[in-house]
Amino acid sequence: MRIPPPRRRRAYSRLPRLLGLCLALAASAGQAAASASLPRLVTQDGRHALMVDGAPFLVLGGQAHNASNYPAALPKVWAAIQDAHANTLEIPVAWEQIEPKEGQFDFSWVDTLVAQARQNKVRLVLLWFGTWKNTGPAYTPAWVKLDNRRFPRMLDKDGKTSYCLSPFGEATLAADRKAFVALMAHLKRIDGDQRTVIMVQVENEVGTYGVARDYAPRAQAAFAQPVPAEVLARQKPLPGKGAGSWAEVYGDYAEQYFHTWAIARYIEEIAKAGRAVYDLPMFVNNSLREPGPLPAAPWKSDFASGGPTYDVIDIYKAAAPHIDFAAPDIYLPESRKVTSTLASFQRADNPLLVPEMGNAAGYARYLYQILGRGALGVAPFGIDYASYSNYPLGSKFTDRRMVEPFATVYGVFAPMQRAWARWAFEGRTRGVAEGDDRAPQTVALDGWNATVSFREFQFGEREYLKDKNEYAAGTETPNGGVAFAQLGPDEFVLVGQQARIKFSGSGANGAKSSLFVRVEEGRFDGDGKWVMERNWNGDQTDYGLNLPATPTVLKVTMGTYTP
Ligand code: DGJ
Repeated sequence: MRIPPPRRRRAYSRLPRLLGLCLALAASAGQAAASASLPRLVTQDGRHALMVDGAPFLVLGGQAHNASNYPAALPKVWAAIQDAHANTLEIPVAWEQIEPKEGQFDFSWVDTLVAQARQNKVRLVLLWFGTWKNTGPAYTPAWVKLDNRRFPRMLDKDGKTSYCLSPFGEATLAADRKAFVALMAHLKRIDGDQRTVIMVQVENEVGTYGVARDYAPRAQAAFAQPVPAEVLARQKPLPGKGAGSWAEVYGDYAEQYFHTWAIARYIEEIAKAGRAVYDLPMFVNNSLREPGPLPAAPWKSDFASGGPTYDVIDIYKAAAPHIDFAAPDIYLPESRKVTSTLASFQRADNPLLVPEMGNAAGYARYLYQILGRGALGVAPFGIDYASYSNYPLGSKFTDRRMVEPFATVYGVFAPMQRAWARWAFEGRTRGVAEGDDRAPQTVALDGWNATVSFREFQFGEREYLKDKNEYAAGTETPNGGVAFAQLGPDEFVLVGQQARIKFSGSGANGAKSSLFVRVEEGRFDGDGKWVMERNWNGDQTDYGLNLPATPTVLKVTMGTYTP
C-alpha cells in the first residue's frame, strides 16, 4: 500500500506542535485560573469587597511595630496576632533590607515571613517602606539616603534642603520602582499559587511636613504648567476658574494640590510597574488632617502636604489609577472625628479599609462601627508583644492587656468573617460605636429602626432608678458598640457589647406593634454555621436587648401584630 509520504510526514511533524499548543493552552488556562483567583477588589452598587480565594474576605488585622520586620522579632508578633484572633498581619518590607547594596536583592525576610504566616494560618498585607515612610527617607538604603545629588531632597522657598526626598527625583523613582518590581516578582514566584499576601501598601504615610511642595527648578517648571486634564476633571477648580496653571486654577490650594499630584504620580509609576508583574490590590495610607467638611481650609503647616488626605482623594484617583484606594490611619480618639473620617474615606470609588488605628482600649468599640459600615477591614497598630508602646497614640500596655479589647471582638467575628464580608458587600450591615457624648443612636434598617443606648443597667428603665445619675459598672468610659447584619425582612444578626438595643417598626411596620419573635444567643462555629446556645426571653428581652461587656452574638427575629 502506498502511503503518501508528504501527508504522513506532515501528520508526524504536527504532533509535537499540537502537543506544544495543548500544553501552552493548558498553561495559559492555568495562569488565567491562578490570576482569576488572585486577591482583587470588586465593586458593585457603590460597595466593595476584597475577594480572596474567590470570595469576600474581612480583614480582621493587626499591624506589627515598625522594627518587627526581622525574623527574630516574629515570635512576639505571631503570639499577639494569635491572641487577637486576627486573620491578617500587616508588616513592613523595607527597601533598605531587600536592597542593601544597589542591584543586590535579599528576600530572606520575605521568605521567612511568608512561610511563618502560612504556618500561623494568617494572611499578609505588606507595607512597602520605600522612598517615604511617615514622609521621611529613613527606610531607603544608605546608598540612597546619603546620595542627595543622585536622589535629591526637596527644596523650600528659600532654597533650603528639606528632609523629604523630592517626588521629582527621577533616579529615586527609577530605583524605588526597580526594587518594588523585584519584590512583586519575588512574591509572584513564592506566593503566586498560595496567595498568602493579599494586598500591598505602597509607601507609608506620604507627604511633607513643614514645606508645602518642592521649589527646586524642576518642580518650579512643573508648577507653572497647566493642571493636567484628568486632575481638573476630578478636583474642581475654584469658583470662576477654568483651565490654567496650578496657581491660576487652585489659588491658595495650589501648592498642596500640586504636591499631592506630584507624589501620587510618583506612586502610580511604582504601583503600575509592580502590578504589571504581579497584580495584587494596592493602596496608600494617610496620616490624617483634622477631619471636617469640604472645602477644607488651605494647608497651613497643619498636616503633611501631599498625602492622601480626605480633601484630595480625587487627585490620587486622577494621578494614581493603579492605587485602589486611600485609607485613613486613625489616631484621633474622638468619636466625632472617627465618624467623620470613616464617612469621608468610604466612597463609591474608594473602599474603606482602616490599615492603622490606635491600640488603646478606647478604640476597640470602633471595630463595630467600622465593620458595620461595610469596610474591607481594620488593623489596630502595634498588635505585637515587642516591648514597645506608642502611647499616647496607643496603649500603655505591651502584653495581653493591650490585645484583649480587640481580641474579644475579633473572636466573635472570626468564625463568620466570610459571611460578614459577603453581607457587607450586599449592603446588609450597619454599625455604631458609643459616642463620647454617651447619647443613644438610631440605626435605620430596612423596615426597622434600632435604637442603641449606653450606660444602662440590664434590667429596668432609667426612670425606675432613685438616683437618675447612677450608671452601670464598667461604663465609666465609652466602650459600647453594635454591628447589625440584616439577613431578611425581619431577621438580624447582632454583634455587640455594653449596649441596649430596642427595635421599632419603620415604614409599613411603623403602624403596627412590634415584638421579639425569637432572640437566640449563640455563636458561629469554625465553618460559619450558627450554633444556638440559649433563647433570650422574659427579663432578657423586656427592657431591650442588653449586651454585656463581653462581645455577644444574637440572632434576632422581629414580628408585628395589629393592635
Ligand atoms: C503611623 C505610621 O504609619 C506607623 O508606621 C507608625 O509610625 C505610627 N504612626 C506610630 O506608631
